[in-house]
This record gives sequence, structure tokens and C-alpha cells, in this order.
Amino acid sequence: MKKYIEEMPKAELHVHLEGTLEPEHIFSLAERNNISLDYKTPEEVVAAYDFHDLPSFLTIYYAAMNVLQTEQDFYELAYHYFLRAKKDSIVYVEPFFDPQGHTSRGVAFDTIIQGIHRAQLDAQEKLGIESNLIMCFLRDLSAESAMEHLEMSLPYKDWIIGVGLDSDEKDNPPSKFAEVFARAREEGYLLTMHCDVNQVDIVDHIWQCVNDIKVDRIDHGINSLEDEALCDEIVKRGLGLTVCPVSNRFVVQNLTSAEIKTMLTKNMKVTINSDDPGYFRAYLTENFLALIEDAEFTIDEMKQLNKNAFDVSWLDTKRKQDYLNQVEEFFESTV
Ligand code: HPA
Ligand code: ZN
Repeated sequence: MKKYIEEMPKAELHVHLEGTLEPEHIFSLAERNNISLDYKTPEEVVAAYDFHDLPSFLTIYYAAMNVLQTEQDFYELAYHYFLRAKKDSIVYVEPFFDPQGHTSRGVAFDTIIQGIHRAQLDAQEKLGIESNLIMCFLRDLSAESAMEHLEMSLPYKDWIIGVGLDSDEKDNPPSKFAEVFARAREEGYLLTMHCDVNQVDIVDHIWQCVNDIKVDRIDHGINSLEDEALCDEIVKRGLGLTVCPVSNRFVVQNLTSAEIKTMLTKNMKVTINSDDPGYFRAYLTENFLALIEDAEFTIDEMKQLNKNAFDVSWLDTKRKQDYLNQVEEFFESTV
């Protein structure tokens, strides 16, 4: 089983590039950019990773971003992730990036996106990993700031497939960004939003995503299970849910294995993802393996979770089918 999980061709739809920053890389970038750190070794950095909820994680996540300064830094950030993804047999990724985490520190939008885009081209050419980038807005900043960044992104529209919404969800509902997301849709972007686990008013936030914003996908969305009508609507619309088990273990002290199984039985298009693997110390394969250890998932369930990711990806129908065939062929020849 472990070998099948490791080797099956995978897609990842919920991974923040800034969340793939590894402690060793934080150190080397800090040295190159003359930035002083509060820690003496990468081990000390990991020891300080004391997350117990979303805000305690976000504080450390934003602090570490300071080391990212140049185009080359963003290139390395993304390329290191792609190299690691290759080991997990990932063939397709829709990674997030958080431009406001960098422009707020004086880094130009062009610097960020040029570095990431160059890494995407290299990943395709050298590693055979295809990717489409999603730009996230920070929901604890203003809707005006989000709109400014949406406008900044327009010259690079061909390099970005869609927009998302992340950061601290408390008192920052989807409706705050209704106008920004409507404009993003007009500009041709696909839409997704985080509906983090166990947030205040979370079921209402998910309804807003579905009915008002009309998202094309939902990030996390575990709490939709609390409302039967909401689950039915998600199934009816074929909306994917990008669940992140190990991230959930940090943020809500639970891998949410039971919820993932329930979603499968309801035919909800649940997928498995790593979220911020540099911080949560588990990449995609490790997320699948954690589920097996926790709740005895069958190989068919693992296969379904994996196929769901290609199915609800933002690839065109032909590319999706190519990848789904690749998965079928893998299981036919291996299992
Ligand atoms: N939720 C909200 N904001 C984030 C996350 C997340 O899972 N990861 C990085 N920023
Ligand atoms: Zn996330």
C-alpha cells in the first residue's frame, strides 16, 4: 500500500508556495540577503513551530517571508517545492502565492511572479511537472488592497489561472471580497476561497462561497458536513474540496479522517493536499500515509481521492482525461 501511495501519479491543488519554505532555506536566504534571524540553527526554527490554531501559524508564516527578496529567491522557493513534489510522484500542481505578503515589504509584484513563473517553466521542462498558478488575497487586509493586487496581476493574466482567498478568516467573510471576485471572474480568472476548519460562522461562509461568490472550488470546507443541504448543493455543482489532513492536525488537532470518509460516501469531490508542508513537516505522500495510519483507508479510497484531484483541477477536459488515464494505467499495471 505504501509503495502504491508513493508512486501513484498525483495532483496537488492546495499548497501555498510560501508554506513550502524549508528551515534550511530560511537560513540560506537570510544570510544571502543580510537579514538577521531570532534563531541560530534550522533546528531552532523547527523547535519554535508551535502552532495550535490558524493565527498562531500565520504569525510564524508571515515572519519567515521576510527572507524572500529577489526574483532568484522566489524562483528557488518554487523550484525547491517542485523538486520535492517530483519525489512524491506529483505530475500536476495548482500552487498558491500570496503577493500581499511581499508587496507590503516593498518587493515588486513583477519580482515575485517572474521568479515563480521561471520555476514553473523549468519544472515543466526538467521535471515533467505541469502547473497553473493561483493568486491569493489576504482576507485580513482590505478589499481595496485585494482589488489593487488584482489590477497589478492583469499584465500577467496568462500566467495565473485563478484567484483564492486565505489568511485569518475570523471576521473576514467571503462577502467582504464579493466585488473583487466578481471583477476577477470578468477578467477570466477561476475562483476559489479558503473555508478553514472550525472558524466562526464557517457554515455561513461556505454558503456565501457557493451561492454569492459562485466559486469554482472550495479550500478546506470540512464544516460543510454540518449542513445536509449544503452538501447536496456542493455535490450538485460538482465542487471540489481541497482538504489538508496534517495541516488540520496542527490547526484543529484532528486529521479529519472520518470527515474525509464521509465526504467520499456522499460523492463529494474531496482531495488530499499538503497546505504548508515546510511548516507542517509533511508533503503530499505523507498526508496520504497519515490517513492510512489513522483510519485504515482502502486502496480504492486512496485512488478515488487521487482521481478527484485531477477531476476538479482547472485543466481542460482533454488534459484531465490524459492524467486520469495515467492513474488508471498505474493501478492496472501495479496493483
Ligand atoms: N489557511 C489560511 N491561510 C493560510 C493557510 C491556510 O490553510 N495557509 C497559508 N495561509
Ligand atoms: Zn491553505
